[in-house]
Amino acid sequence: MQIETVHVPLGARAYDVEIGPGLIAASGARLASMLPRPRVAVITDENVGRHHLESLRAGLASAGITAEAMILPAGEATKSWGRLEQVVEWLLAEKIERRDFVVALGGGVIGDLVGFAAAIMRRGVRFVQVPTSLLAQVDSSVGGKTAINSTAAGKNLIGAFHQPSLVLADIDVLGTLTERDFLAGYGEVVKYGLLGDAGFFAWLEANGPNLSRGDDAARTYAVKRSVEMKAEIVARDETEQGDRALLNLGHTFCHALEAATGYSDRLLHGEGVAIGCALAFELSSRLGLCAQEDPSRVRAHFAAMGLKTDLADIPGDLPDADALVRLMGQDKKVIDGQLRFILARGIGDAFVTADVPNDAVFAVLDEALAAR
Ligand code: GLY
Repeated sequence: MQIETVHVPLGARAYDVEIGPGLIAASGARLASMLPRPRVAVITDENVGRHHLESLRAGLASAGITAEAMILPAGEATKSWGRLEQVVEWLLAEKIERRDFVVALGGGVIGDLVGFAAAIMRRGVRFVQVPTSLLAQVDSSVGGKTAINSTAAGKNLIGAFHQPSLVLADIDVLGTLTERDFLAGYGEVVKYGLLGDAGFFAWLEANGPNLSRGDDAARTYAVKRSVEMKAEIVARDETEQGDRALLNLGHTFCHALEAATGYSDRLLHGEGVAIGCALAFELSSRLGLCAQEDPSRVRAHFAAMGLKTDLADIPGDLPDADALVRLMGQDKKVIDGQLRFILARGIGDAFVTADVPNDAVFAVLDEALAAR
């Protein structure tokens, strides 16, 4: 099957995202011409390493490239100061230089941590993203956001923009994901249709079931279309001064729900995004911005795919609407104490606004909580 390439046009920081099957096996051929010497440092986690590290080593070795590897524990707790120090010190001990490649083999946690380590080590070394979750392939591996979490203040609060030099999104790896992880990533795929391409959303309504069944062509197209949309937005607004916030459709609600559920497996990030997108459309409809049918159509698609759709789908207790609104106040999109929301005039037509009355947000949450 053909490999698709999406170019991220950022001038001196431009790069390609390659998408398709077999890319880990072909990684040596992909990297060889970009390397100053045939040696890379790979950082992965225990779960991903078990499934994919040997295939990556073999792929690199087929082009004569050797790989030193560091394997970290899996999970969000790895995005910490302590692990950052460990990664940077290891890269220094391995004598990785600025023109060498550090390879991040993993999902969003590894991509964010390794990207940040690459950003600060020797004031910036080059790195390659080999994203192994659907969420990382369509979102976190592209666009150069890197970060660790602050122990006291929250997620992703310490980081830098540092673009990768190449992204290899091998869709074969999606076959090793649990159904729940795959669907959580699918929440981010749908987000792209909802924010900017009604045709893509309609395509997902028709083809979503093929994607979950493992159709390679459908998976490649869905990842490619998502990455194209992300690349186009990132090229317009690399450091999120304006339009890039569109990529956070559903995320203001999601961040509050993730905080309320203690970032536990009661709610995965992509599940929170799906519920958040449904709530953002509910809010848009309440404010008279989009048709009343739009939120129902969004929810119907998530439900048809077996994704969490409503607050009722989150197990355990949730705080009341007041407390959830307060948790939204911690969002990174707050400017001068004013929350910014991504709302929609319809499916495929989202926009960023600070002009949202608190009582409308409260009412949407209160109603959603009452339906639990
Ligand atoms: N995940 C949102 C962004 O990259 O801007």
